Amino acid sequence: MTRKLYIRTFGCQMNEYDSDRMADVLAASEGLARTDRAEDADVILFNTCSVREKAAERVFHDLGRVRALKAGRPDLLIGVGGCVASQEGGAIVKRAPYVDLVFGPQTLHRLPELIRARRESGRAQVDTSFPEIEKFDRLPPPRVEGAAAFVSIMEGCSKYCTFCVVPYTRGEEVSRPLADVLTEVADLALQGVKEVTLLGQNVNAYRGAGDDGSIADFATLVEHVAEMPGIERIRYTTSHPKEMTPRLVDVYRTVDKLVSQLHLPVQSGSDRILAAMKRGYTTLEYKSTVRKLRAARPGLSLSTDFIVGFPGETDEDFERTMRLVDDVGFDGAFSFLYSPRPGTPAVELPDPVPREIAQARLARLQSAIDAQYGAASAAMVGTRQRVLVTGRAAKHANELAARTDNNRVVNFAADPSVIGSYVDIVVTAALPHSLRGEPAA
Ligand code: SAM
Ligand code: F3S
Repeated sequence: MTRKLYIRTFGCQMNEYDSDRMADVLAASEGLARTDRAEDADVILFNTCSVREKAAERVFHDLGRVRALKAGRPDLLIGVGGCVASQEGGAIVKRAPYVDLVFGPQTLHRLPELIRARRESGRAQVDTSFPEIEKFDRLPPPRVEGAAAFVSIMEGCSKYCTFCVVPYTRGEEVSRPLADVLTEVADLALQGVKEVTLLGQNVNAYRGAGDDGSIADFATLVEHVAEMPGIERIRYTTSHPKEMTPRLVDVYRTVDKLVSQLHLPVQSGSDRILAAMKRGYTTLEYKSTVRKLRAARPGLSLSTDFIVGFPGETDEDFERTMRLVDDVGFDGAFSFLYSPRPGTPAVELPDPVPREIAQARLARLQSAIDAQYGAASAAMVGTRQRVLVTGRAAKHANELAARTDNNRVVNFAADPSVIGSYVDIVVTAALPHSLRGEPAA
């Protein structure tokens, strides 16, 4: 009988990507097939996140639940990976001695060795080091499902925003060599992938080594990916406003395959708060970058991240955030309540914002953003859109789901033979979280 792997993933797209790589590596080395039932699994992994919430507590709570499974099946292996593993390391095994493996985001490729060592020694294995970029050299090529795929181009972050754990849990920025990324994209294209999302905590900080000893920046990488036969659309996430170079702005003029949608986290509309967050730009600089991007690519749709209730945020600071929303016009945003993260500089800051005030601000911000998102969706009604058909619609089995250039889901009735290709549709209605359409004549 095939042995099975269950992975529970918390957090961001990077973690989703990493979970897929864990599955790839364990399919290759252990023949494990993925299951979505923990009870059926021979190996259970938690891929954790510590960016917000009380993530560590949640992991211990969930671990407690799988512990019972182990009582009846001593061979069952339980592992904890991701950012909580990075932060807690061996402390996880001290607190939960039934955990067999603890590994970080940069050591997931070592899972086969960790499992072997666990079996041979009978002792829990902990490896949360940051071994540069060896991870990618050791992973099997990603398996492809469908016409859209993620490609990790860099790891970690060296920006050290005062509120954020990522530089501590994922390490500093390390870029994959240019040729490695391009080879992976070419392989994906050969397997039918048409749309790639270049992935990293800070993709526009990419500095990949070229074969000739030169260093390729992100603009160069995008230009090369655009030349790959078969690749029709390029997305990327996440990028940092500080790294939006004139070269990269220019790519919006010259590379049609780059989508007209950009996620550019701003965090706040107050310069005082931006400085306290150590974001490295002012609101004027952010708006100037947006102006240049929109001059290069008219109609560019822009989404962002906000943190509300950062220590010391006054009513006036928050009103500046609301004004920025008005000024820029965002097509969607992730907005979060500030969450103090142990080990980050911001936890030392005075003047916490009372929770009720922060929550009221968040609600106001979210409704302003929702209104802008809704208006942009409504403006799409009647327009013709080229969409990548990703599969059947979630709700209606006789309809298909596709993704627009500006990252909206659109449902429409058409023959399933078009799944995996681009088709032209006309948008007929805008719903809160999706669009409806019909095939264009
Ligand atoms: N690289 C991205 C950037 O340019 O800002 C951010 C990556 S971060 C993992 C994703 C988002 O989580 C951030 O943009 C921020 O809004 C949010 N975030 C990070 N730390 C947070 C904290 N301590 N409390 C609330 N939100 C937080
Ligand atoms: Fe975090 Fe700031 Fe980097 S939000 S991921 S430290 S850009």
